[in-house]
Amino acid sequence: TMLGVKVLCCLLVVYQLNEAKKIKGSRAAEPNGALKEPHASLTSFRLFPEDEDECTVDPLQLHTLTSCGFNSSNPLIIITHGWSVDGMLESWILKLATALKSNLIHVNVVITDWLSLAQTHYPTAVKSTRSVGKDIAHLLQALRVHYRYPLKKVHLIGYSLGAHISGFAGSYLEGPEKIGRITGLDPAGPLFEGVSPSDRLSPDDADFVDAIHTFTRESMGFSVGINQAVAHYDFYPNGGDFQPGCDLRNIYEHISQHGLLGFEQTVKCAHERSVHLFIDSLINKDKQSTAYRCGNKGSFDRGVCLDCRRHRCNTLGYHINKAHTGASKRLYLKTRSQMPYKLYHYQFRVQFVNQMERIQPSLTISLTGTKEESGDIPITITEPISGKASLTFLITLDRDLGDLMLLKLRWEGTDVWKSVWNRVKTMIPWGGAEKQPLLTVGKISIKAGETGNKQYSHNSI
Ligand SMILES: *[C@@H]1O[C@H](CO)[C@@H](O)[C@H](O)[C@H]1NC(C)=O
Repeated sequence: TMLGVKVLCCLLVVYQLNEAKKIKGSRAAEPNGALKEPHASLTSFRLFPEDEDECTVDPLQLHTLTSCGFNSSNPLIIITHGWSVDGMLESWILKLATALKSNLIHVNVVITDWLSLAQTHYPTAVKSTRSVGKDIAHLLQALRVHYRYPLKKVHLIGYSLGAHISGFAGSYLEGPEKIGRITGLDPAGPLFEGVSPSDRLSPDDADFVDAIHTFTRESMGFSVGINQAVAHYDFYPNGGDFQPGCDLRNIYEHISQHGLLGFEQTVKCAHERSVHLFIDSLINKDKQSTAYRCGNKGSFDRGVCLDCRRHRCNTLGYHINKAHTGASKRLYLKTRSQMPYKLYHYQFRVQFVNQMERIQPSLTISLTGTKEESGDIPITITEPISGKASLTFLITLDRDLGDLMLLKLRWEGTDVWKSVWNRVKTMIPWGGAEKQPLLTVGKISIKAGETGNKQYSHNSI
């Protein structure tokens, strides 16, 4: 029956979202007016880590800051949560705050608490996002006035609705100086997808804006995370629509680990993955994930986008390269299902020469590098090969093989041809080609995304 309640809860969410859709058009846009003091608000700010006195930061009582340990020579990071079902601060907040504090050390970390406004109907919570953004802007304005604290030392990190709140905070601050950076962690989709840039997180809101999109799978006309690009660099791990380790097959594992709470964990899994990818970038400094600019998920999966020239690739997470041209760039990468999330990307291009009719072989590749061996990697070819076909595909590995020395390509045809084609061929070092009656590999090229190294086979038919 507990499970029944949870399911009902989820249906209600969907119902709320549908209600939200109806009011979408009529939502009155409040202009971003100037900041007026004094300002009463339901938002509270807490300096992390908290001591016994609970260091709540009051924008009107800034002297409390110093006693709480705020150091105005250090950067300020403000973490803002999203919509809340249970009115409790989610556990990722302290994980992220701890990762920031323990890895960056000389940094002030503040947590925005707008739970009293966030624990309502989703559309109502959405309506509060502007005013919470304004509260953050007030705090930053007070710091600017009383401490001469520069906005460029501020980094806002917002999850879900918190991403748009952070954007609003940026747009309320007037003058030429902007907030240094805003990071949107799977910015919320419902009521924000497709609206004008001033009504959501956008690249105008800070000197630098980055976003990680992890749950953009659409169902019933909505996706939990926003699909469109909203930043200077928009990262789409695993295509952005769903994350490894979050599929329903894992629900039983989650339930056995977390009890019935596991059900909710599964629902939140892909949305919250954005946060854990960011935490990963702080914790695993030697395993920074690289993402590549690409037109769409399909092209990326064919391996054609592994290019790092002219800002075409960037590092996901805290250590991103902030050089940008202004326009939004969509970047893609594959990740593991758990920390460390990094995968190494390789593009393979295999040219087949096939004199017979269309064939659909199954391929297995194994690689030997200066550091490690890959083991067998199966490759699925979705389209039959006919004539002189060149296939391009992406392979990912969870470890760095070093410089590639040896590649083995093994293929099997459909049952009829199996006995003929079943052979192992060593391609590198590049020996003379063996005569093959039905399927011949003409040329293989490999490109390692992370190092940019390219290698080609030299034998041709
Ligand atoms: C503030 O941080 C700086 C390092 O950025 C440090 O040198 C200084 O001692 C700190 N001030 C206080 C009062 O802790």
